[in-house]
Amino acid sequence: MSGIFACPVCGEGLSCEEKRWVCPRGHSFDRAAEGYVHLLTPAQMRSKTPGDPPEMVRARRDFLASGNYDFLADALTRLLMEHLPDPAVLFDAGCGEGHYTRRIVETLAAAGREVMPAGVDIAKTAVRMAAKKVPSGQFAVASLYHLPVADGSVDAVLNIFSPLCEGELSRILCPGGRMYYVVPAARHLFEMKEILYPEPYENGEKDVQYAGFRLVGTECVSRRMELSAQTLGNLFAMTPYFWRSPREGAEALQKKEALAVTAAFRICIYEKA
Ligand SMILES: C[S@@+](CC[C@H](N)C(=O)[O-])C[C@H]1O[C@@H](n2cnc3c(N)ncnc32)[C@H](O)[C@@H]1O
Ligand SMILES: [Zn+2]
Repeated sequence: MSGIFACPVCGEGLSCEEKRWVCPRGHSFDRAAEGYVHLLTPAQMRSKTPGDPPEMVRARRDFLASGNYDFLADALTRLLMEHLPDPAVLFDAGCGEGHYTRRIVETLAAAGREVMPAGVDIAKTAVRMAAKKVPSGQFAVASLYHLPVADGSVDAVLNIFSPLCEGELSRILCPGGRMYYVVPAARHLFEMKEILYPEPYENGEKDVQYAGFRLVGTECVSRRMELSAQTLGNLFAMTPYFWRSPREGAEALQKKEALAVTAAFRICIYEKA
């Protein structure tokens, strides 16, 4: 089977074999038991374990498994349903451990849509989990800044809270393809921030134009979540606040037996220009 991925050494297309992905020039990349492939070149690896650390990935996996953010996956599915061709290649840029990819692809499949899921993340622990969760997908450890993906090979891109390299994402999208870029809305997790910081700030909300794209719409979705201490702990550990909060704030949060927290997302929809 040939896929969307390109050889990180020479740029030729990679064919997906059972045990390896290989390019016409003979560069070959072993498929891990879970089904993913490592396409990060040594020069692109700035650290031994790039991307989110394993404990953060596990906290996110456990939080997302609680279902509290499924309303975001469902909003994205609804938007995709309106515009995605059938069949389609859906590319998750910074896929984490694959929770959203799986939920979206399963819902689209249940509606009779044929979708080939693919994704990359720079964190190996995350990609391993994604490949296990979505066996029908093609997943690679790779950098969003040097995507080993063929030009114009994907129909839609998801980017949920991951670094954005608009040049690469516009390059891999087909003409008319869309990018769904999810960012925090003004009061995302504000109740948690009120405990962590003496002066919590609201996130900025402005429409950004990216080269190679045209902004075609923005949709805001939010939900008040009733979180147990354990789920709250996982949520805290998967956010950057975990590393940046004052000690007093983190201790005050840890004392909470439950907390109502609002999740608020902006889905920014861009079309390849
Ligand atoms: C906030 S997490 C979001 C993960 C997933 N989209 C989600 O919402 O659950 C950001 C992800 O971007 C990945 N990441 C960070 N820098 C990256 C890079 N240069 N290339 C690819 N992935 C990167 C991290 O490893 C992490 O999994
Ligand atoms: Zn090659």
